Amino acid sequence: MHSVIKNNKNLEFVEGPLKGKILHPIWLRERLNDEKNLDKINLQRLYEPSLIDNNLEIKYFSVDDDLLKITFSNGETGRFLVYDLVNEINKYDTVPNKIEWNNAINVLPYNDFNKFDKSEDLTIKMLSDFHSLGFVIITNLSKEEGTVIKFAENLGPIRSTNFGKYFDVISKPNPNDLAYTSLGLSAHTDNPYRKPVPGIQLLHSITNYAEGGDSTLVDGLAITNYLKKNYKDFFDILTSTQILFRFIDKDVILENWGSLIELDYNNNFKQIRFSGRVDYVPVLESDKLTIYFEARKKLYELCASKYFVIKFRLESGMLLMFDNHRLLHGRTKYNPSSGSRHLQGCYIEHDATEGKLRRLLSK
Ligand code: OGA
Ligand code: ZN
Repeated sequence: MHSVIKNNKNLEFVEGPLKGKILHPIWLRERLNDEKNLDKINLQRLYEPSLIDNNLEIKYFSVDDDLLKITFSNGETGRFLVYDLVNEINKYDTVPNKIEWNNAINVLPYNDFNKFDKSEDLTIKMLSDFHSLGFVIITNLSKEEGTVIKFAENLGPIRSTNFGKYFDVISKPNPNDLAYTSLGLSAHTDNPYRKPVPGIQLLHSITNYAEGGDSTLVDGLAITNYLKKNYKDFFDILTSTQILFRFIDKDVILENWGSLIELDYNNNFKQIRFSGRVDYVPVLESDKLTIYFEARKKLYELCASKYFVIKFRLESGMLLMFDNHRLLHGRTKYNPSSGSRHLQGCYIEHDATEGKLRRLLSK
């Protein structure tokens, strides 16, 4: 049951799911959705909302079941489904919320590629897993080179970089990045020196026959919440100190600043940037630096701890897709003379996965 009164110039909901919400006349006027106001094809406004008269008022209103009817002081009328307003005001999004995890996660989100074509539901499940856990593993893909590009382009545009559209993770002489050796890689964010940091990474295993070379993942969201609860000083310094990330190559020097842990406007986790290979803290007051270095060590230890890390093998024909703003990834060292190991990787952005999931769910 929705019940509405006029409170000064506004409408106030006194009963129902919007109880206590006060809606401004111009806010309501901007939501008129008849064909005079909204293009029916692209749902964009056909008028300039900044030109609405600031003195606009609500002359009459009524609410009947789920329908709110309004007549404005300039004679315009509007009909609103209250549940549309509820969804907008409560910021309802079909993209699932994040669920934090640690090593106790008992089922990894494996998704069989062979089944994808048969049902859109599996793409929805794959993208939903991705958004709640921050990663998915796709099995039964081709082992051909270029598979990662095809898979990624099905979701959205590739984020090319100065490395090109994709990169080969293979051990090579004189590499421009330690990823292209057989060394182990501790938990890291890829390319934290780029603006913006690539959102999503895909890694496809073409061959993985060498001894070692297992994949590791850690949930930056879970670690952030753990720090906030148990090490507030560390949490505070990691979320407030701006760090320079830098990458030096033949043709470019890339730099970007950011905190190791970034919070959103609600002080909730937004993004983690951790890469001990390319971070440069500025010269700060010595006591501050002492805490910062302790905090970074703790972050490193948590990211390497049995409690938080999961380890699995990306067998030939599998693909790992993960949120590079949320998870940290790594690999154990491998022995290149024991068998070949070749991964191909590329980046896409959150627009692709979120946008596709919303579209599939709204059908
Ligand atoms: C990388 C990387 C992981 C792997 O290339 O940035 O983290 O398994 N590679 O080789
Ligand atoms: Zn990496």
